[in-house]
Amino acid sequence: MAKFITFEGVDGAGKSTGLEWFADALRQRDIDLLVTREPGGTPLGEQLREILLNQPMHIETEAMLMFAARREHVEKVIRPALQRGTWVISDRFSDASFAYQGGGRGVPFEKLEQLEQWVHGDLQPDLTLLFDIPIEVARQRLSNNVSLDRFEQEKGEFFEKVRQAYLVRAKQSPNRIRIIRAEKSQSEVQKELSDIVASI
Ligand code: TYD
Repeated sequence: MAKFITFEGVDGAGKSTGLEWFADALRQRDIDLLVTREPGGTPLGEQLREILLNQPMHIETEAMLMFAARREHVEKVIRPALQRGTWVISDRFSDASFAYQGGGRGVPFEKLEQLEQWVHGDLQPDLTLLFDIPIEVARQRLSNNVSLDRFEQEKGEFFEKVRQAYLVRAKQSPNRIRIIRAEKSQSEVQKELSDIVASI
């Protein structure tokens, strides 16, 4: 059965590099695979991404737009792919809303749970890889980027809250969320990812 796998972590954790490497390893096993991202993944979702990453707004508007983009993504991309037997890897999904909008911004978790229930009550990732890293290290990595979006411009304190909310989420779903210690060397992270690929 096709699997739905998501990648999560604070900005600068190395999640995107890990994702590319993981996707290549799956393709080498001849797995039919679709790689997508949030916010985004559909033409409308990409337009919402542009707004979300650049435009200041109320924190609940932000939460609802994240889930609005997700609604499109689930119906138009993720579910059809899984139904035809294509595996899906998404660079972020609802755990990011709990971490950033819930932990970082302070939107009540109960409200996010309602949105989650509404948008994909019957669909959860089969596996989530959470790239966890001390915030100082993540920020050091981000400092090489020339242009930072609205989230990346936030202070260390914001990211500390995002990180903690991700870790709480991982504790709540220990069977789904696997923590990758991303401050380790790239070869150690790759070894861990390749063990995971071999086991699924
Ligand atoms: P990301 O794809 O990590 O950005 P980049 O292209 O820089 O690698 O994600 C974009 C930002 O969106 C990221 O800072 C986290 C934020 N985000 C939320 O706040 N809530 C969400 O639900 C999602 C999916 C992303």
